[in-house]
This record gives sequence, C-alpha cells and structure tokens, in this order.
Amino acid sequence: MPVAIPSRQAGGVPIVAVTRWLPPPAVDPLVAAGLEVRYRAVDEPPSVDELASHVAGADAVLALLTERIDERILDAAGPQLAVVANMAVGYDNIDVHACAARGVIVTNTPDVLTEATADLTWALLLAAARRLGEGERLVRAGGWDGWRPGQLLGMGLEGKTLGVLGMGKIGSAVARRALGFGMHVTYHNRTESPRAAALGARYASFEELVAGCDVLVVTAPLSEATRHLLDAGALKRMKPGSILVNTSRGPLVDEAALVEALRSGHLRAAGLDVYEREPALAEGLAELDNVVLAPHLGSATDEARAAMVELACGNIVEVLAGRAPLTPVAPA
Ligand code: GLV
Repeated sequence: MPVAIPSRQAGGVPIVAVTRWLPPPAVDPLVAAGLEVRYRAVDEPPSVDELASHVAGADAVLALLTERIDERILDAAGPQLAVVANMAVGYDNIDVHACAARGVIVTNTPDVLTEATADLTWALLLAAARRLGEGERLVRAGGWDGWRPGQLLGMGLEGKTLGVLGMGKIGSAVARRALGFGMHVTYHNRTESPRAAALGARYASFEELVAGCDVLVVTAPLSEATRHLLDAGALKRMKPGSILVNTSRGPLVDEAALVEALRSGHLRAAGLDVYEREPALAEGLAELDNVVLAPHLGSATDEARAAMVELACGNIVEVLAGRAPLTPVAPA
C-alpha cells in the first residue's frame, strides 16, 4: 500500500541523514537508489547538538542504537521527515510515540540478526557456566601451573533447565540451541508462544520462571514495562547457584543489585552483553571474577551487520519511493 510522505524537498532529490559510520555495504544501497546521502562517516556517536544539525532538513534518518531520536531531534529534522530507520532490532532509543504523532514511520532490522544474537547468547552462557573468562585470564597471566582435578569446576548443562525471558525470535533461537545441549526449556512471555510450544518449551509465570531455572537468559525488549524486571527482589528469588545471561538491553536488570547477587555467591555467574549505562559499568562489576563481559556484540558478525545495513537502507528506499516499509516496528 503506498505510504503518504508528509512533504518533500521542493522537487529535489530526497536527503538521507546517516548518523554514523556503517560497515559494508554502508551507504551504497542509498546511493544506488539515487538518494542524496548525508553520511557522517565517523565511528563515534554524535553529540545531541551534532545529531540535531546533521538531521536538519532530512527526509530520512538512518540511526544506530547509540542515538536517541526524540522530540528535539525530530523538531530539528523538520516536518518533511518521513522515516527513521534504526539499524538494530531493538528500538528503545527512538521515541516511537513522538514519531507516530508526526506521521514519521519507524523501522528496525529484525530476523537478519536472530541467529548471530542467539549464538552470542550461547557463547556467554557457555563461558559463564564453564568459567572461560577466569581460565583465559589465568593462562594469559602465566598463572597456570598445570592440570588439577578441582580447577575451575563449572556447571554441567545436560538435564538442567534453561529459562528464557522473552520468547520472541531470538529467544526461540536460543531455546532451539538448548535442545542440542540436552536442556529443558521453560519461558515467560506476555502471551504463550506457538513457536515455543513447537520446541517443547514450557510456559511459566514470571515468578515461576525466575525461581525454577538453572540458567536464565534475558531476550525481552526494553520498555517501561520491562525496565528493572530483574530487580533486587527478583534476583533474590532466582535459584541459588543459578546463572543469568543478558543479551537484550541492560536496563532490564538492576545492575547494582546484580553485582551484589554475584558478589554474595547467590548467583553462580553471569554473562552480559548489555549494560544499564553503556559503555559505563556498575561499580564493582568489572572486578568480579564470576561474570563474563562482552561489549554489546550480539549481532556483530560480518553477515548479520551487512544484512542489517541492507535492510535499514531498504526500508528508507521503500518509504521514500512511496511504498510500504519492509519492517516497520509494531505499533506500541
Ligand atoms: C542490538 O542490540 C540490536 O537491537 O540490534
């Protein structure tokens, strides 16, 4: 269905503001579509002022998760703005209500990063369960003096229960991998998921999930409803000796409370790819041995990132051509 574009540069070529350096194919698909590309090819996030002046007069903005697209930025862009294409599956950095109120379409990049993110989730899960970070640090520091029968014993996964908080596409891909490790899968979602049922995963209430699993993986999107879902109380109700892995968004977990839960040994370990105030870490987190820390690498493969760029550009090209976006975000 054709989409109405609010207005257009008087007869000119539509302008696309790209907020940050992109991996290949970068802006090639936009250039190939004949659009005027205002490319900020800098591998650092812009300041708010810089972002505001970069988007001024643009018909489309290709944004990354490091940029907050809010009223101020939408005002700075102007009424001709038709689409904000986020190069990420999560879009909590975009004020979708403000966009909707102005008729600005918001798109994200689902599907193309599902398997990469599920792989990274498992990388963290295995590293936390098998104490790979500690082992790696020991060997590198020259502190390893040979095999010992009781050295760095971890948690075996076979027969254990994996809890998935947020059984969307990524959660399902994580659950599918768990079957290969001989784990039972339980999950919590707003609604029961047919995809999960097909995998033999058991639906549980939030409380049942948190208290009943050996490894809890967080793959739910960030919203006001999910912010600090895992607060100090919920972390306390997790099974003693269990493991927490978060590859969705940091603010779902109260990071200071997590530091306490890991420090006290109530939780055996954690694997984190995301943080409450990226790139800052909660005080004490980096000093803990029983946490594996990754720098937000969920979709960081050549293949996934190239596909994300293609999809974000494709969304812009479609909307500016008056066609429906490929992957609009679901209305809130
Ligand atoms: C990465 O965090 C994403 O949302 O794509």
